Amino acid sequence: MFQLNLGLENKNVIITAASKGIGKAIAKIFVEEGSNIAICARNKDDLEETKSELLKLTDKMVIANQCNLTKTASIDNFFDFIMDYFKRIDILINNAGGPPSGKFDDFNINDWKNAYNLNLNSTIYMCKKVIPIMKSNKCGRIINMTSVSVKQPLNNLILSNVMRAGVIGLTKSLANELAPYNILVNSVCPGYTFTERVRSLSENIAKKNNVKIQDIIDQWQSTIPLGRLAKPEEIANVVVFLASEKASYITGTTIQVDGGFVKSLL
Ligand SMILES: NC(=O)c1ccc[n+]([C@@H]2O[C@H](COP(=O)([O-])OP(=O)(O)OC[C@H]3O[C@@H](n4cnc5c(N)ncnc54)[C@H](OP(=O)(O)O)[C@@H]3O)[C@@H](O)[C@H]2O)c1
Repeated sequence: MFQLNLGLENKNVIITAASKGIGKAIAKIFVEEGSNIAICARNKDDLEETKSELLKLTDKMVIANQCNLTKTASIDNFFDFIMDYFKRIDILINNAGGPPSGKFDDFNINDWKNAYNLNLNSTIYMCKKVIPIMKSNKCGRIINMTSVSVKQPLNNLILSNVMRAGVIGLTKSLANELAPYNILVNSVCPGYTFTERVRSLSENIAKKNNVKIQDIIDQWQSTIPLGRLAKPEEIANVVVFLASEKASYITGTTIQVDGGFVKSLL
């Protein structure tokens, strides 16, 4: 059988916010491809459980450390921990939780700062850590996880709409600056994806409106040409491909994986 060799064996990969959902699905595929991985999240029990699950699939390194990506000191600790194991960083996947939903009047300036720390600053800070290493190796891949909101802002998600647009500005600028070092930088934008976050979001909305959870999911699905939510691994497949040797001429792109949800031409 023909198999696409992604060239990811023994690569050292950092995936932030990977104890659940899309981050975990990404981690699993890298493990299946024979990469060494470093993951983080805030909740230690979830993180350890995910680490044990992943270790069952591989004899390569799976290292995990608690980290709150909104705090630079916590990222410093995570990075020091990683460098005790990895002498090189080949791939960085910047993922994090999403900021709270709401409209402009719902948020004070502190909420804006928190959203900045979670989604934009965590990406900038992780990039600050890995880029000098990737530059000295003259190769690297950075993939920033955003959302379809960067192509089509979503109602009631102003914090996410604004901060993720900043991540795209960073992605495109870094792609230009780092191309001479053979460091490729891209962003992947998930559409509605069936993770724990989306499950609890649908539960909350259903409760608030006194309707069934399935009604909320049906309503979301009706906006998606493929007529269903994504599975986390459908997002992860694209991320892992972009990190692979087969994607050696792709940089500065923002690719949605959304079942056709975005209505614009590009
Ligand atoms: N699912 C979707 O439909 C969808 C669509 C578009 C974009 N996205 C975005 O994609 C990202 C992942 O979403 P998901 O659905 O996979 O979420 P999820 O299932 O809730 O998983 C989020 C992961 O991030 C970790 N995390 C959250 N805040 C963190 C922090 N401050 N520091 C470190 N780790 C943190 C969580 O662990 P702890 O809680 O233990 O820290 C968990 O491992 C989010 O930014 C989300 O907004 C999701």
